[in-house]
Amino acid sequence: MRHLRVPNREVEAVLGHIRAREWGAVGMRVFSSKDGFSRLIPLGPNAPEEFPESLAMFPLEVHEGVPVDKIETDWLALLVNEIDQETIDSLGESLPSNHEFIGDMMIVRLDDNAAPYADAIARAKLATHPHVRLILNDEGVQGEFRIRQLQPIGARLGGSVLAGPTLEFAPPEILSTTVAVKESGRVIRCDPTKAYFSTKLQTERLETLALAKQLREELGRPLRIADPFCGVGPAIAPLLVEPNLVGDLLAADLNPDAVGLLFENLSKWERQKYPSEPIPLSRVYENRLVGVADASLLDENEDIVGKWDVIIVNLPHRTIELLPNIISLLDRTSPSLIRGRVIVEESEIESANTQIQSILPPIQSGKPTPKLHIKRDYSASLRLCSFEAWIASS
Ligand SMILES: C[S@@+](CC[C@H](N)C(=O)[O-])C[C@H]1O[C@@H](n2cnc3c(N)ncnc32)[C@H](O)[C@@H]1O
Repeated sequence: MRHLRVPNREVEAVLGHIRAREWGAVGMRVFSSKDGFSRLIPLGPNAPEEFPESLAMFPLEVHEGVPVDKIETDWLALLVNEIDQETIDSLGESLPSNHEFIGDMMIVRLDDNAAPYADAIARAKLATHPHVRLILNDEGVQGEFRIRQLQPIGARLGGSVLAGPTLEFAPPEILSTTVAVKESGRVIRCDPTKAYFSTKLQTERLETLALAKQLREELGRPLRIADPFCGVGPAIAPLLVEPNLVGDLLAADLNPDAVGLLFENLSKWERQKYPSEPIPLSRVYENRLVGVADASLLDENEDIVGKWDVIIVNLPHRTIELLPNIISLLDRTSPSLIRGRVIVEESEIESANTQIQSILPPIQSGKPTPKLHIKRDYSASLRLCSFEAWIASS
């Protein structure tokens, strides 16, 4: 295999040229010359016979290739091959310190300082995460459907990485944001650019499962569960895994794309057919009321009011405002449960608790007074909180 012999201090610059043109040998690594003064850069089949002037001064040598033996796990160590150390130091905290995985996608947040280096960051991150197909910059959540604005900054195509201008040539399937996420033994199909989905809510969903099992124990029968802001259905997934937990199910969302993905998910989870396109809220099966609906209008539907044992309220910016509509959906002839999420200023948690307690009907005796529990920071001052309310029968 041909190798380019490059003095140590010039290796980074030359590697930059070679990577940009995809002339390197995939799966082979750079290694040191015997005298230790140079490095040998392996060249792949794309490398030309004759190099441009900027590289022609380095001698070509034929050696056996040395396979990549271990994957570098520190992406910043690889970023040094892309950007000079001074620039890296000046970027400081602008460089993304964490990332989120959704299926085989990695999502990072680049601020204005880091954005010009998006392709270098993408190459370094993809090199340290060989299972990632696509890396995207998160430009924020938009609108009432809470859809993410995700901009592709790098993708893996076979053995090479596309980033910067080369990304334009990526085949559409490589840039697809529809992915499968495995959670609680179920595969959830989602597309965060079309419908809300967060991998960070897994613990929350398992807590909801534990609460529902507790209520089933008390009622001694499967539950009628409503998730009127269900998105693609992740909160329902673990509930359906538990045998004899879900009797009747209402799963609705205002976003038709979310409902389309929900139907794909329900078809797989329940091994029964759901519509291939989103439809308005309908009884697809006797015990399955699913489809597109505005949750704030459900209390106008006699088929839905007063019928549910558990209601999941995950519209954190509007949960408190919508609580009165939600309460009327509960079957008050037996104990029931509301599981909600709220975004609130940390300084206003106490007053939000008082407000929630004043809206809710009486709480089952022996059960705790509903209170917001902080789950994580939403911004510098806002907190994402959860609560559960055990409602007494009337
Ligand atoms: C925070 S997401 C939660 C989604 C899902 N429950 C989850 O945990 O992934 C809120 C969802 O409410 C939906 N939504 C917003 N306004 C709504 C309304 N008025 N009625 C029904 N769904 C609504 C959005 O489309 C979004 O899917």
